[in-house]
Formats: sequence, C-alpha cells, structure tokens
Amino acid sequence: MEFKRIAINTGGGDAPGLNAVIRAIVLAATQRGWECVGIRDGYNGLLSPEKYPEGGLMPLTPDVVRGITHLGGTILGTTNRGNPLAYPVLGEDDQYYEIDRSDELLNAFAENNLDALIAIGGDGSLAIAGALAAKGLRVVGVPKTIDNDLDKTVATFGFNTAVYFATECIDRLHTTAASHQRIMVVEVMGRYAGWIGLNAGVAGTADAILLPEIPYDINKVAEKIQKRSARGRDFSIVVVAEGAKPVGGDVTIIGKSVGQAERLGGVGHKVGAALEALTGKETRVVVLGHLLRGGKPTAYDRLLSLRFGAAAVRSLVEGQSGVMVALDPPTVNYVPLADVAGRMKQVPLDCDTMLTGRDLGISFGD
Ligand code: F6P
Repeated sequence: MEFKRIAINTGGGDAPGLNAVIRAIVLAATQRGWECVGIRDGYNGLLSPEKYPEGGLMPLTPDVVRGITHLGGTILGTTNRGNPLAYPVLGEDDQYYEIDRSDELLNAFAENNLDALIAIGGDGSLAIAGALAAKGLRVVGVPKTIDNDLDKTVATFGFNTAVYFATECIDRLHTTAASHQRIMVVEVMGRYAGWIGLNAGVAGTADAILLPEIPYDINKVAEKIQKRSARGRDFSIVVVAEGAKPVGGDVTIIGKSVGQAERLGGVGHKVGAALEALTGKETRVVVLGHLLRGGKPTAYDRLLSLRFGAAAVRSLVEGQSGVMVALDPPTVNYVPLADVAGRMKQVPLDCDTMLTGRDLGISFGD
C-alpha cells in the first residue's frame, strides 16, 4: 500500500520516551515521502476539533520534532478520558454516560486523508488500537508504560527511567533513614504489577518489598525489621508497590471516575502506620507517584523509543496492520495487537530478579 499521510497519537498516562518515538516516526516516514500529523490529546483532536483553535491535528515535520528526543512528556498531549469506544458524555441528568464514537472517529480519519495510525500507548490504548484495526483502519501500536505490564514485549519504554529514578530516591532515603534510625516506606507506581517495586527495591537494596503479586503479612515485615535492629541495623527501607495488598485484603484506591481506570494509592501510609505500631520505630512515608513519570528518559529508554518508532514505520512499509512493535532481544519484532489486549504481565514469582531478592535476604512479606 502507498502511504501519503499518517497519524500519530499518544494515549493514557505519559511516559519518558514518548517524544523520542514521535521523532523517530516522523524522520523515518518523511524519508519515505510521507506526511505526518499528530492527533492532539489521544483521539480528542479528531473527536472534538472545536476544542482546538489551532486545529486538532498537529503537522509534524522534521523541524517540529527537532531536539525533542530527550524531553519528557508528549508534544501531542495525552488523556486517559478519551476512549472512543466508551467516550464519557454528560447527560441531561448531570450523569456521565459512555458512548461508542469509533465510527465517527473512522470517518474523521477518512475525511482528513489519514492512511494509517501509529498509536503509542499502554494496555488501554493498545486495546483501542486493536479495535480500530478490526474495523478496517491500518494501525500499528507502540508499547508504552512505566509499569512494564504489557505482555509480548520484553520491555516497554518508560520503565527503565522509572526504575532508575526510584532507585536514586531509595539511595537518598538510605542516608536519612540511617541518620535518624527510622523506617522509611517508599510507595511506587506500577498499577497491578510489581515491576517497578521489585527492580528498584532490589537495585536499591531495600529490606522489604511488597508487591501486588504477593499478598503481604505485615507481621512478617515487622519481624524482618526487628531482626535487623537486633543486629544493630537500626533503620529499614520498605518499598511498597501501589497495588500491594495484605493477605485476605484488597488494593487501596484513591477513587474511580466514569471513563477512567481505578486510581491506586495510599497503601504506603497504611503499611507505614502498621509498622510504626508493631515495631515502635519512628516511620516516614514517601510517595514517589508521578515523579516516576516525569522528566527525561534514560539512554536505554531513548534508544528503545527510537527503535520502536522506526520499527513501526518499517512495519507499515512491510504491509503490516493490527500489530504492536515488541522488544525481542536482540531485535524488535511485531506481534498481533489481539494477543496483547487484556493480558496484563505481572512479575512471575520464580523470575530471576525475585530469586535474587530472596537470596539477598529481602523480605517480600510472605
Ligand atoms: O500506568 C501508569 C501509571 O502511572 C500507573 O503507574 C498509575 O497507577 C497511574 O498511571 C496513574 O494515573 P494518573 O496519571 O491518572 O494518576
């Protein structure tokens, strides 16, 4: 198929590396004589163009993407409230309802002469991309998320940056924890998967790591801390993934709005209060939250993002559609979007990093 004009969008939460993907796509596509445009804020630039006085589509030339490889965020904007298959609209009764606007969206693609879409996003965005491909749109997905919870790719971009920053924070907390003989509880993002918590916790030599994959017994964590005290180690670092839950309990949520995923958060404070009560040690809680998403990508994530963006363009050249580019070291290959949707990748309990943590004596609260 001949391409004249392709669209790029970024959906869901931002992640370091989005701009690098955009730049690689634009440069690789321009070399082939294609024009690129970016859809603003997920699909909103096409679904609600009236909200964008400067136009819902952003022309993307090599000049526009110059010097953005190292920048965090996304020049296109993003949203996690614009699912075209379940779009939230305010009813006359002041309640939000979800409606399917996908046909309207496909018409907007045709009206704007867009031959294909490269959709950069996490599980939600890639499921939407798969549904649009099934309706006949030519689509390639690029896996993004700091959570690293997407199946069929060894890594998503953004994850390495989040782990790197969380590890740096844990290092800093060690010195203040040791000086004050305190317990420091560090809550990290990651949704229902413990990849960030496990990797940053092991790299940062935490004393306990609580993950969504292993319901924790707080008494076991307190025991670990008391044993350290008995050996003269009077401070402890406890990394808690936001999706961690106690044995027999549930995840801690901030809330849930129409058209949005459940917002996790708060388990760190619960763990901190319980440990202070059980051990009698002064405890402080630090929630890293969106700091893990902001800022510039590491060299690893930049390179991965550039490789993903260029591979997405090559996949269109090869006539592929309905696929996601995936890291399969040493190469990048393509997997059907249908094989990715709805398959969250959690940490396998027997993975090498988990075994390493156990061999180092880290408590997982079990
Ligand atoms: O999926 C990325 C992520 O940062 C999760 O780790 C976190 O639970 C969620 O997004 C936060 O989303 P929001 O930006 O809507 O608060």
